[in-house]
Amino acid sequence: MSPQPQAAVGAPLSRVDGRLKVTGEARYAAEHDVDGAAHAVLVDASIGRGRITAVDTRAALAHPGVLRVLHHGNAPRLPYRANSGSNNPPGRRLRVLQDDLVRFHGQPVAVVIATTLEAAQHGARLVKVRYDAEQPSTDLAEGEPGKPETYARGDAEAALRDAAVRLDLSYRLARNHHNPMEPHATIARWDGGSLTVWDKTQWVVGTQQELAAVFGLAKDAVRVISPFVGGGFGSGLRCWPHTVAAALAARVAERPVKVVLSRRQMYAGTGFRPAYDYRLRLGSDRRGRLKGAIHAIDGETSSYETFTEGIMTAGQTLYSLAAVRQAYRTVSLDVNTPVWMRGPGFASASFVLETAMDELADRLGLDPIELRRRNEPDEDESNGHRFSTRRLRECCTVGAREFGWESRPLQPRSRREGDWLIGMGMAAGVYDPGRMPAKARARLDADGTAVVEAASSDMGPGTYTAQTQVAADALGLTMRTVTFRLGDSLYPPTPAHGGSMTMASVGSAVLDACDQIRRQAIELAVADRESPLHGADAEDVVVRAGRLHLRSDSARGETYRSLLGRNDRAHLSADGSYAGPPDSERLTVHAYNATFAEVAVDATLGLVRVRRMLGVYDAGRIISSKLAESQAIGGMVGGIGTALMEHTITDHRDGRIVNANLADYLVPVNADVPEVKALYLEGNDPDADPLGVKGLGEVVQVGVAPAIANAVFNATGRRVRELPITIEALL
Ligand code: MOS
Repeated sequence: MSPQPQAAVGAPLSRVDGRLKVTGEARYAAEHDVDGAAHAVLVDASIGRGRITAVDTRAALAHPGVLRVLHHGNAPRLPYRANSGSNNPPGRRLRVLQDDLVRFHGQPVAVVIATTLEAAQHGARLVKVRYDAEQPSTDLAEGEPGKPETYARGDAEAALRDAAVRLDLSYRLARNHHNPMEPHATIARWDGGSLTVWDKTQWVVGTQQELAAVFGLAKDAVRVISPFVGGGFGSGLRCWPHTVAAALAARVAERPVKVVLSRRQMYAGTGFRPAYDYRLRLGSDRRGRLKGAIHAIDGETSSYETFTEGIMTAGQTLYSLAAVRQAYRTVSLDVNTPVWMRGPGFASASFVLETAMDELADRLGLDPIELRRRNEPDEDESNGHRFSTRRLRECCTVGAREFGWESRPLQPRSRREGDWLIGMGMAAGVYDPGRMPAKARARLDADGTAVVEAASSDMGPGTYTAQTQVAADALGLTMRTVTFRLGDSLYPPTPAHGGSMTMASVGSAVLDACDQIRRQAIELAVADRESPLHGADAEDVVVRAGRLHLRSDSARGETYRSLLGRNDRAHLSADGSYAGPPDSERLTVHAYNATFAEVAVDATLGLVRVRRMLGVYDAGRIISSKLAESQAIGGMVGGIGTALMEHTITDHRDGRIVNANLADYLVPVNADVPEVKALYLEGNDPDADPLGVKGLGEVVQVGVAPAIANAVFNATGRRVRELPITIEALL
């Protein structure tokens, strides 16, 4: 078929759901009206490790409005069938109210169900839980590491021995929490043997599969509904204990039950970006060509599951290096299980790699961009695969020009404006976006409007809008005549809405479904004796604004409406799919960026103020430039948080998170966010997927923290190898 004109894809469109969001009409998980819903509040463990010896529910049950109090002593036993299909890491998942073990501070140990939220909240305070407490182990530095995941090529020890310049650097990265605006929440309702949940999730299909496994149900007996997600950053990539608790409570109470986590409960009730201790040894020759690298990485995980993430990839593929050795160990602690958080693994690795590159550049007296240029690989050296598109150099060149890199102070601590030391820094970023099988279905009605459905989520990047753009262009319809629906496990299955894979995976399935419908319509027209297109070459027909016409003669054509009406077709429909990359593919598809930062550091007080930032991205085709810009600004803001503020602090005496609230866990606010600019390199990645996109939601947070750290070094001459960079570290 003839390529369609692209009217919507690439345009800076506003969100199709923007009006619903700003008028409060968009329904988030806790806001759905479910008749007769009771409220449940979780009681969470006040010890970090040990056993529950007694649960006294009398006072709670005596409180007006309290219906039931569930705990391990009276909760029904649940099957908890094995399930590898829902992002559960290896291990034995936490079984909600199934035993007397406390594995971390904040673990749910009881659920109070009441007719009102207030009664449930007060009831939860009245439950008296007694424990046999043990000393928890929550400090990464003190824990016992497990068997490492390893990688090696070449002889890294020898390469380092022979290197003219050697660095041996130890880093410490704080734990971060996602802190989306919308708290996690679930409403659960049983209808006989089937379960419906309204949930905050980035993966309705994953939550459906997990609830089916936990309750021993057929998958189709569970429906998960999640049309709007108020931010996620990864916190919704798993089905967490409170969702199971809601379903369990609804079953026992024999009525729908709603659970909303408090902000405090979010810190132990969902995952987090794990803390890391990371030692990097790096060697180069005198011209800055890297010779060898040895990475020793320790990351935290829980005592019951082993969470790992892609922290090793960048060290294998970002720069040309003959000899690399990596050992990545997880340390089992008495904490809840971590989960991916924006730029997962890669953002953490980038702080280490990219500040080390900056140290090397400083040691060699080289421009940091020139150092990176000298180490540009020709292929993916971890597997010999070709890069699909790799435009990191161009990101650096464009960024340097647009940011005014040539004006950066060449000597650290050489520019001062009053009390403020001024510095500029940059970092490179890489992310390996996922491409996974996905399905979608589309229907074109005789009135010339279309509906497209896929189970995906939209946690904020603008999936509703971007998928509508793809569908509108493929169908030859205007944006207003296409409705895209998501967030329901009844729709065709899609992968988790994360890992930067939604646009490539779901988008390619949407494209397929809509291409099929357009083809059906064109075939119908050219075969229809009454159509002006009768007998035309199908290859020469395009559709624009709902009207099929010859590319070579736009006057010859007719609308979908007249075509379908005359042929008594109520609709045309198609199931679309994307199979994911072929197994035989010898291709590395990565997204890249160069991020630039200028900071001012108060010479006396150590205060760091980011003054301006620029990110330049190689992310393949951009579907919506406006939404992509928002993504990048959000990623840079998140990176400011990681660099300068975010730090989940645990009291290692009892495992309690002491700053489990948004007053003490600092995130950037408007005053912390200066002029932030995003530029996307034009073009696409035709080898990546049918849409030519590479995914951009994750890469935008990679490289941000090191760009800021490198700017802090340039301003102050102080190298801080710990995140966040605090005032104390700069005094
Ligand atoms: Mo992203 S960390 O996969 O939500």
